[in-house]
Amino acid sequence: MRRQAIYPGSFDPITNGHCDIIQRALMIFDEVYIGVIENPDKKTLFSIEERIQMVQALFKDSARVHVEGFEGLLVDFAKIKNIYTMIRGLRAVSDFDYECQMSHINRHLCPQLDTVFLMTDAKYSYLSSSLVKQVARYRGNISQFVPASVESVLKDRYYE
Ligand code: PNS
Repeated sequence: MRRQAIYPGSFDPITNGHCDIIQRALMIFDEVYIGVIENPDKKTLFSIEERIQMVQALFKDSARVHVEGFEGLLVDFAKIKNIYTMIRGLRAVSDFDYECQMSHINRHLCPQLDTVFLMTDAKYSYLSSSLVKQVARYRGNISQFVPASVESVLKDRYYE
């Protein structure tokens, strides 16, 4: 049986911190399904299509990584995929509260669902998509924070 997991998120845009979690998840799981959420409550810089495209481009050579968009509850996406293991990255204690709540409510909605937390590498512990966007907007250097292809898309969006 193949060990599969879903790594859900907004990925607006994907950062080196996310990529690090995906690479490490691939050491534990045979296949990782990256679930890019279309969240009507959250205003994103990039459309769902753009966010999926950025992630797909990064993992195009990795047959063990699949990228899909989803809308609605994570548990419903899990049921559609028939995959009941979620991966979430933890950067610091401050992430824990929210992640703990989400993990509990997801298990309440779907008892077979479990969340596996991976600690983000220390060098990415302060990184977030929101901060990357702020730095990019004011033309700061983001080359250490995101893959080159994502840096180029961010520059196109903010600098044109
Ligand atoms: O990258 P993010 O924004 O931290 O990802 C958050 C995400 C997509 C994992 C979370 O918002 C989510 O699971 N949304 C789907 C709605 C849902 O199922 N929420 C949990 C139960 S209320």
